[in-house]
Amino acid sequence: MTHILGILCAPTAEKSVAHGLLRKALQAAEKKGTTSELEILRPDFSLKAVRKKLLDADGLIIATPVHWFNVSVLAKRLIDEVFWDFSDEPYDLDGMPLGIIATCNEDGANQAIASIALPLNHCGLYVPPFGTLIHNIAMPGHGERGWQNRPEEIGAQVAAYALE
Ligand SMILES: Cc1cc2nc3c(=O)[nH]c(=O)nc-3n(C[C@H](O)[C@H](O)[C@H](O)COP(=O)(O)O)c2cc1C
Repeated sequence: MTHILGILCAPTAEKSVAHGLLRKALQAAEKKGTTSELEILRPDFSLKAVRKKLLDADGLIIATPVHWFNVSVLAKRLIDEVFWDFSDEPYDLDGMPLGIIATCNEDGANQAIASIALPLNHCGLYVPPFGTLIHNIAMPGHGERGWQNRPEEIGAQVAAYALE
């Protein structure tokens, strides 16, 4: 069964805006016919356990709040301490679709998204079309036709590419 893993990198965990968005994205992935799992990173998260979950996944969605114009500390640790191990041969995650959700209330989401996409692309993952979402909580209407409020599209898109 095609499996989509969501990793939440918000220190406020279940209370975060990112959590709600990621859950909706994963629900949309399931509607496309995949299974899904939500991994909420805690400050003492197990590198080994997350590494195993990545190896079992066919698609990945990472959600982070913007902290100081960049990713959260949890997301940075995920990249540095888990993905570093996937950045060399045999490139176990080569070909995995990646969705990215960044929540903010001002600016910096583009930098945060790039800070995830670039190192993970170095590990062989790719962001499919429409695979990134900026969600600015201070933006009334959430952008043109409310695109910032549609995390379902990320989930459906990552699922569609994972199912290919
Ligand atoms: C330490 C810290 C740094 C922050 N830096 C930024 C920032 O640079 N740009 C921004 O737009 N919001 C910044 N914020 C606000 C959060 O991104 C915003 O509250 C976010 O939408 C919260 O989302 P969450 O509920 O998913 O964590 C910061 C918040 C914290 C706690």
